[in-house]
Order: sequence, then C-alpha cells, then structure tokens
Amino acid sequence: MKGISTFTLLVLLLGSPRFTWAADSDRGQTLFGDPALGGSTWGKSCRTCHENGEGLRKGFSGQERFTIMGLHQKGLPEAIDFCIQVTMRGEGLEPGSRDQADLMAYLRSLDGKASGK
Ligand code: HEC
Repeated sequence: MKGISTFTLLVLLLGSPRFTWAADSDRGQTLFGDPALGGSTWGKSCRTCHENGEGLRKGFSGQERFTIMGLHQKGLPEAIDFCIQVTMRGEGLEPGSRDQADLMAYLRSLDGKASGK
C-alpha cells in the first residue's frame, strides 16, 4: 500500500522533534546573493551590504544578541529577518526552513569583517 507507507514516512519525518536539514553553506552563499530571498522586492541582496562579510561579526555561535539600527534582535534568525524586512523589503525566512539553515551555515563560515565590534 504505497499511500500508507508515504504517509507513515511523512509522520515519522515531521514528528521527529528536531528534524533538521543538513545545512549546505554553498547553497547559502547563492541565497546570500539572491535579491528575491525571503520575498524581497527591492533589488538588494545580502551581498549588496555585506560583501565579504562586511558588517558581520566572525563565526556566529547562535547565542548572539544583535542591535541593528538601534533595534535589538534576540538571535541570528531574527537578525536575518530584520535585514530582509527592513533593508530588502521582503517578508523573511520560514523558521526552520532549508533557506534559513543554509543561509546561517554560510554566515557562520564567513570570516566576518565587522569593524569596531
Ligand atoms: C541595505 C543594506 C543591508 C542589506 C541588504 C542587508 N543588511 Fe544586514 N545589516 C545591515 C546593517 C547596516 C547592519 C548593522 C551593522 C552594524 O551594526 O555595524 C546589518 C547587520 C546584520 C547582522 C548583524 C551583524 C552583527 O554581527 O552584529 C546580520 C546577521 C545581518 N545583517 C545579516 C544580513 C543578511 C543575512 C542579509 C540578507 C538576507 C542582510 N543582512 C542584508 C545592512 C544590510
């Protein structure tokens, strides 16, 4: 019964508490240069402002608090969505999505050239 086994597989996948994608930082690098990322509508990509990791600190641990343009963001996903919404006029990334995981993997791989931080 093909239908049932597909259904069972889905339940197993979605039901496992922390099912995560194997994050792909190469794909994240492509997303970093994508002006349509997260529904963005302003023709800018992350790379427009963060070329070579400009303005980004080194090796995000996932524990950071961010202050961007005077506003506090409580983690990397929130910081990314803030930039997408405010600077790229988009909607943001689905929490736990493949796009979010891959983009974060790429950001963590950057050397970070934030000055004075
Ligand atoms: C129009 C310019 C612009 C675009 C486009 C942009 N950002 Fe930003 N971003 C900023 C500015 C400005 C800051 C604040 C930098 C600072 O405080 O020195 C910032 C801060 C950040 C931070 C916090 C950096 C830190 O270490 O404190 C992250 C993470 C970030 N951006 C990710 C992204 C991502 C991912 C994208 C693409 C989805 C993106 N940004 C697109 C301008 C931009």
